[in-house]
Amino acid sequence: MPSLNDIRSTFLNFFERNGHRVVESSPLVPRNDPTLMFTNSGMVQFKNCFTGVEKRDYVRATTAQKCVRAGGKHNDLDNVGYTARHHTFFEMLGNFSFGDYFKEQAITYAWELLTKDFALPKERLLVTVYHTDDEAAAIWKKVSGLTDDRIIRIATKDNFWQMGPTGPCGPCTEIFYDHGDHIWGGPPGSKDEDGDRFIEIWNNVFMQNEQFEDGSMVELDMQSIDTGMGLERIGALLQGKHDNYDTDLMRSLIEASAHATSADPDGPGKVHHRVIADHLRSTSFLIADGVMPSNDGRGYVLRRILRRAARHAHMLGAKDPVLHSLVPALVRQMGAAYPELTRAQALIEETLKLEETRFKVTLDRGLKLLDDELAALPAGADLPGAAAFKLYDTYGFPLDLTQDALREKGRAVDTEGFDAAMAEQKAKARASWAGSGEASDGKLWFEIAEDKGVTEFLGYDTEAAEGQILALVQDGAQVGEATGAVTVVVNQTPFYAESGGQVGDAGIIRTETAEIRVSDTKKVAGVFLHIGEVVAGKVVKGQPAKLEVDHGRRAAIRANHSATHLLNEALRRALGAHVAQKGSLNAEDRLRFDFSHTKALSAEELTTVEREVNDFIRQNTVVETRIMTPDDARALGAQALFGEKYGDEVRVVSMGELLGSGKGTGGKTYSIELCGGTHVARLGEIGAFVLLGDSASSAGVRRIEALTGQAALDHLKAQGALAAEAAAVLKTSTADLVERVQALAEERRALANEVAQLRRELAIGGGGAGGPEAIDINGLKFMAQVVSGVSGKDLPALVDSLKDKIGSGAVLVVADTGGKAAVAAGVTADKTGVISAVDMVKAAAAALGGKGGGGRPDMAQAGGADPSKADEAVAAVKAVIAGEV
Ligand code: ALA
Repeated sequence: MPSLNDIRSTFLNFFERNGHRVVESSPLVPRNDPTLMFTNSGMVQFKNCFTGVEKRDYVRATTAQKCVRAGGKHNDLDNVGYTARHHTFFEMLGNFSFGDYFKEQAITYAWELLTKDFALPKERLLVTVYHTDDEAAAIWKKVSGLTDDRIIRIATKDNFWQMGPTGPCGPCTEIFYDHGDHIWGGPPGSKDEDGDRFIEIWNNVFMQNEQFEDGSMVELDMQSIDTGMGLERIGALLQGKHDNYDTDLMRSLIEASAHATSADPDGPGKVHHRVIADHLRSTSFLIADGVMPSNDGRGYVLRRILRRAARHAHMLGAKDPVLHSLVPALVRQMGAAYPELTRAQALIEETLKLEETRFKVTLDRGLKLLDDELAALPAGADLPGAAAFKLYDTYGFPLDLTQDALREKGRAVDTEGFDAAMAEQKAKARASWAGSGEASDGKLWFEIAEDKGVTEFLGYDTEAAEGQILALVQDGAQVGEATGAVTVVVNQTPFYAESGGQVGDAGIIRTETAEIRVSDTKKVAGVFLHIGEVVAGKVVKGQPAKLEVDHGRRAAIRANHSATHLLNEALRRALGAHVAQKGSLNAEDRLRFDFSHTKALSAEELTTVEREVNDFIRQNTVVETRIMTPDDARALGAQALFGEKYGDEVRVVSMGELLGSGKGTGGKTYSIELCGGTHVARLGEIGAFVLLGDSASSAGVRRIEALTGQAALDHLKAQGALAAEAAAVLKTSTADLVERVQALAEERRALANEVAQLRRELAIGGGGAGGPEAIDINGLKFMAQVVSGVSGKDLPALVDSLKDKIGSGAVLVVADTGGKAAVAAGVTADKTGVISAVDMVKAAAAALGGKGGGGRPDMAQAGGADPSKADEAVAAVKAVIAGEV
């Protein structure tokens, strides 16, 4: 009996043999479609190949595509577990032709694969065609020899396939298998068609039209093929089963669930096991593709599925979380075909465990409330909307979970009442922000958030994606179309909005009619504001748009942000546990990190920190991101910003491995931080890290600025060039530069001394004869000299030399020091009883427009403002000596 893994291979091999490129499954979150919540069929990744917008280097492809149908146009969530063939997650096998072969070849391939390779008996097969498609009917007759009654014409949309509200589409032919008359049901198109006897196994779409939002549909230039066969369905058939959940793969998951809960896989809890097996697949694959539980958008669909699964596990009597323990069984089954599952195994297990553990806290109480409410109602009555809302709001029960729980009891929810209660809560929230004094355009963003929902951020996983333009804002008001400066709001975006020190992304938004250059992205009330300018054409609200982040800029920002985490940890280890982040900036061209520390860092500390960061960059380990509760994150040792408010769950970024370095924490991981930013995938991408220096930011806070990657290398290069240039000027090599500069400094010092000496000598008359004459004042010899071009500190030496000259008496030097005056007086030791040098300078200073003066009786100095008064100063001193004053 072939396993599902064998059947997948047979399918892909068949088409590879027939000239098709085997293409990998695309992620569950479509990057190329703004209208789709999840990839819901094989053709999604080829959407633009059918319309001719995109060309690839192959025209035939085959895939096994992961699909989730749990939201949007194709939503099977409500039926999962209760029917034989509904799944939230399934694999679609498909073959595709892009303008290459068309109807006849597609039908021929399908018939050959089914009847030869899969060896299905011809008499069990029948097909449908779109009622007007005579060509397809004729081809079927020719290729298969099926009789007319087994080629059924269907007029409904069942035989006209559309991926979503817009996009490529076309009539289709579906292939059915007849399980035999022991099972109830009629052929397609009959009144009993919903029975289980005739099962559709393969849909071949003849892609020849494109549907537009305004309702119009046009013929495409190219005729293409898109097919889809559910692996689980064909698997059941080839394994002789009637129920997809009895296939080997699904059965192994059901048995894992039975084992984990100790509940019979086929007993009264059968439905619960089936739901768990299905939901295990969708949740695990969604997490592997980057979706995380949240309260809106895709994350909320994931959360809803998870909580449903948790309730079903609870119904099986499980006391502890169950889902995460089933992940190894899933990885065993599907990890080889989908390596992303194996890679993300730890993240999946952790996320499932956290989510189930948290929900369990309110699950019991919510279920009890539900029972009490039901007991108080008349038999068969709907659950009031208010009660369902309370379950939603207080106990975290998504509406569909409540409906699922009621379904088992044959009851329903008053959904109108639920919607009314939800609207009332929103109105209250609106009243509170309307009254909170937000700036007027702040209100606008809240209105947009309420009306359109918050923006979904795709930028952790991709830097280019499609979104739909929900609002255009100019001068604080919404507009229908715009040219010039504009702020754009879309439903989903890869652009990071400024927060946590990381600057907002820049890039380009393109629509069919416009190109918008985005210079910054901000976030208000969960709405991302793409701030930019229409540089070509005119943008119109409602248009689909291609959003592309400036990749180089984002890469530089990412490197700086990751380096900041390493820097934070390196500082803590070098300086002590008191180091706490006080602020940061992660921009395109540099990073800045403020942290608590009182002293300047020594050169040695800076070198240690810089070296350690570079060591981890070269370690080039993978950067890991996980979601957990703030408490768990703290228990793990995560660095969080003190006083920051964190929600119920936080994003934890871990980087670097301690390889028995004995450096400190005893943990294996080097840096663990709570962080919502974008980071490098591996540390090596940072490239290099160069500290520019450390400075005081505010009291008790230091600031470090640094560069990474190319900017760091450019900086080093510039430093080198500077040294080379200086060496060239000094006519030496860079190796000898420091020695040369030292020698020059030394030489300069010596020359300066010499110049000072010469100036002094010059000032007092060339050191030899000449110079001022001594005069006699009341028997005391007095000599005065007015000089310029010397500094105040040269004066004592001048005074001394005059004293030597005079032998016995008093001397005075008045100097013009370059706009200001300085004066010094000296009295030989034998005359200090006659006159004090201090009195002399006081008199001189007063004449020079200064005041004060100080020193000893034999030597004193003072300053003055006006050197032109030198003669007056000399006269004043003479008067003092003469005893005239
Ligand atoms: N895209 C087609 C389907 O999903 C084949 O049925």
